Amino acid sequence: MPDMTAAADWLAATGPSIQLQATTWSVPLTQTVHILAIAALLTCIAMLNARLAGLIGRDEILADAVYRFGRPLPWALAVLFASGVILVLAEPHREFENQLFWIKMALVAASAVLTFIGFRWVAGRRFDDLSRAERGRLIVFAAVSTFLWLAIAVCGRWIAYVDVL
Ligand code: HEM
Repeated sequence: MPDMTAAADWLAATGPSIQLQATTWSVPLTQTVHILAIAALLTCIAMLNARLAGLIGRDEILADAVYRFGRPLPWALAVLFASGVILVLAEPHREFENQLFWIKMALVAASAVLTFIGFRWVAGRRFDDLSRAERGRLIVFAAVSTFLWLAIAVCGRWIAYVDVL
């Protein structure tokens, strides 16, 4: 594991980090933006995966659901990334020296790739028109995707409760 303390020391000494450290409202405001983007992302993921698993909207064309609930996802992820970077800049030691932060980042990368691969799978058909094998694949995909995004949220909140390395 590279020396995260040295990396955090370097980042904490940069102009933007010093500015953010001196501004008392920057972290709470950024956390609020982060939490609103989490709400948007998890709502889209829930609406989408419930359809992919055939729980709701079984008569809808799956690709339409992906178009409707998938479109806001890259925007929500972009806001999460930007607000996340600001939170890292404001408190580099708190994040860089925390294993949960790195586990979360790995999960975010894996979940984003899985989600966009999953979208490609979804044909222009309705859930009820799919074969048993196709339905089974989509149900497993929806379950794994939901678990991963929720695990990220848990890691994100848990960072505050785990002692640094
Ligand atoms: C895309 C890249 C992301 C980055 C760089 C990032 C970074 C961060 C950072 C630095 C924190 C502050 C942790 C602390 O010091 O307590 C945080 C908090 C949090 N993050 Fe993220 N995050 C990202 C994406 C996500 C996603 C996708 C989710 C959920 C699906 C998420 C959920 C959370 C939660 C629940 C918190 C705690 C918020 C609070 O209670 O203040 N994050 N994130």
